[in-house]
Amino acid sequence: MDNITLSAIVNDPYIKTYLEAADKNFAAIGYKEHGLRHAKFTSKVAGNVLSHLNYSKRDIELARIAGYLHDIGNSIERHQQALSGAIIAKRILDRLGMSYNEILMIMSAVGSHEEKDMIPNSHITAAVILGDKTDVHHSRVRTEKRTGLDKHTRVNLACKNSFLRVNAKEKTVSLELTTDTEIVDIGEYFEIFLERMMHLKKAARYFDCMFVLYINKNKFL
Ligand SMILES: [Fe+2]
Ligand SMILES: [Fe+2]
Repeated sequence: MDNITLSAIVNDPYIKTYLEAADKNFAAIGYKEHGLRHAKFTSKVAGNVLSHLNYSKRDIELARIAGYLHDIGNSIERHQQALSGAIIAKRILDRLGMSYNEILMIMSAVGSHEEKDMIPNSHITAAVILGDKTDVHHSRVRTEKRTGLDKHTRVNLACKNSFLRVNAKEKTVSLELTTDTEIVDIGEYFEIFLERMMHLKKAARYFDCMFVLYINKNKFL
């Protein structure tokens, strides 16, 4: 079937349980939120990217589904989560009756979303990377502590707003961050996010777009 919707995925109790387990695993090691909120964010942004670039309705829906499922492998462990996530996704999508061609697209996006050194293998993968790697937000930080935090946590904590703007005409994909520079200075963003920005650049390039970074309305990339 080529009509499995995001809503069927979101309402599947098996998926909900696995994503909640993934988040609990991350909470146990003190890492930022990686559960239903992150799944929804990635799904939404991935769909928006393809929508702004005039992909078909079905492509947009597949990007939303892949975005929602992309971190489901964290329910088992995090080091090979992309690979295990692809296999878990296959079992779920098989059960729901999705066609093998679409399952392959989603498995491939889930299985390769962490591959930083390669150009994404499809528009679905590129859209998922753009959703996943732009989810920087203070609400992902779990601790109430405000001192003694590592840089990664502080970068998230400082981020009050993040928005990914796709301009098909100008061929740009811009990440617009609003941050509190009292919590981290701009230099620290680059220390932590340089690798991530390179990943985002490659994903934008898949669509023949330039990746641009704005922090507090200043253009950095
Ligand atoms: Fe991931
Ligand atoms: Fe993720």
